Amino acid sequence: MKNKILIFDTTLRDGEQSPGASMDIREKLEVARQLERMNVDVIEAGFPIASVGDFEAVKLVSKEMKRPIVCGLSRALKKDIDRAIEALRPAKHPRVHIFLATSKIHMQYKLKKAESEILKIARESVAYAKKHIKDIEFSPEDASRTEPEFLKEVVETVIDAGATTVNIPDTVGYAIPEKYGALIRYLKENVRNIDKAVISVHCHNDLGLAVANSVSAIANGAGQVECTINGIGERAGNASLEEIVMILKTRNDIFKGFTTGINTKEIYRSSRLVSQITGIMVQPNKAIVGANAFAHESGIHQDGFLKERTTYEIMLPESIGLTESKLVLGKHSGRHAFKDKLEAMGFTLSEEDLNKAFERFKDLADKKKALYDEDIQAIISDEIANVPETYQLEYMSVSSGTKTVPTATVRLKKGDEVFEDAACGDGPVDAVCKTIDRITGIKGKLSNYSLRAVTSGKDAVGEVFVRVDSEGQTVSGRGASTDIIEASAKAYLNAINHLLFMKGKKQPRKPTPMCD
Ligand code: KIV
Ligand code: ZN
Repeated sequence: MKNKILIFDTTLRDGEQSPGASMDIREKLEVARQLERMNVDVIEAGFPIASVGDFEAVKLVSKEMKRPIVCGLSRALKKDIDRAIEALRPAKHPRVHIFLATSKIHMQYKLKKAESEILKIARESVAYAKKHIKDIEFSPEDASRTEPEFLKEVVETVIDAGATTVNIPDTVGYAIPEKYGALIRYLKENVRNIDKAVISVHCHNDLGLAVANSVSAIANGAGQVECTINGIGERAGNASLEEIVMILKTRNDIFKGFTTGINTKEIYRSSRLVSQITGIMVQPNKAIVGANAFAHESGIHQDGFLKERTTYEIMLPESIGLTESKLVLGKHSGRHAFKDKLEAMGFTLSEEDLNKAFERFKDLADKKKALYDEDIQAIISDEIANVPETYQLEYMSVSSGTKTVPTATVRLKKGDEVFEDAACGDGPVDAVCKTIDRITGIKGKLSNYSLRAVTSGKDAVGEVFVRVDSEGQTVSGRGASTDIIEASAKAYLNAINHLLFMKGKKQPRKPTPMCD
């Protein structure tokens, strides 16, 4: 029998409580649309009484969402509940979420109220909200530090008053999985009217246990988990949605029968969107959505992965919406991965050339952290094949100034033939590159340009490095001269010669000789 765990996303409420994560109303709507696309069950869209912006955001999200429940947070106060109900009015499936602290420490210092008063406020606030909305969630704030017997009493009281979901927050991230799971089991087995409500959990990550606690709660009877995309949230954050969902999916041998309605293929996109909008970067080693979550660098791992991916991969990257795993070539990579990379780039080398290239690769990898395709191409072209200088720079002249259109004349030599052409550009370097394109018939796009002085003084030699893209290939080029425009022309031509070499035997457009 399938046991569907409801996914309650609070990225727009608790997630937005991350320092610096505030989102404007349009951004909230964009995130809500993505959450709907991902198929979350509940979207907590904000805390309507907190600000006009929050009120408007809850209202707009309520208006737009078709399938998910839209929830608004409220203290156990009439004015908060009224405001939440007002914001949720356009929602097809509205839910009010009322919270009130129940731990001794909160009741004594924050609320200055006795247990009997807390029970009364809890009962009355739920009953008041129930007159307007059927779907009521109640959270005894700081539940994990609340005396279990009192917690049981609170939960029974609010269910009697009409709560349909009882959320058991680990507000300060203090819980330990075994104990938290036992608390959920205790409520499941001892709350007299628990069959009338869903038990929800809401865990913070102060000890790095938010996901572990949530999962332990699921194993012990929770039917809803509250979580955020990328685990953002107050202080150390909330339980991360993607981790919980992928744990249930990947370890269904343990969580037999548990499912979520989440379309996991939307996970990566959701993570990127929330990171872009909030400006909160995802750490590279973050589980599921970090840049390295599906990247393998060690040679032994790469070799194993290439033989059989399940040796080192427990989930398919495609299952979260990524296209493929990454083999990052670095100093720990082995021959197998290097050869595989070359083949993927279209190079098939003899055993001897492969050995030479691999040695060069290891040398370079010792100096550079990660090697990109251009580095590999450079190894092949420079060290193995000695890229022929198909075109050589014979002569160039450039006119540019404040009131002239930059124009370049370039003469190139190819074997015994000499070609000359001229072109205008946005600047002298652009004019030179365009002229070289005209002569060689290769259309290159300068994707990177850097200049550095090799020597000091006014007559310093300038060294230019370029990266050029053309028809899906990227190559690098280098040129040096005391004239930086000439250094640029040489670097660009060097890159074009690389491209011509890479294109193998494919002939470029035959240029028109200058003279016969
Ligand atoms: O952490 C918490 O206790 C909360 C409640 C409002 C549910 O965010
Ligand atoms: Zn919280």
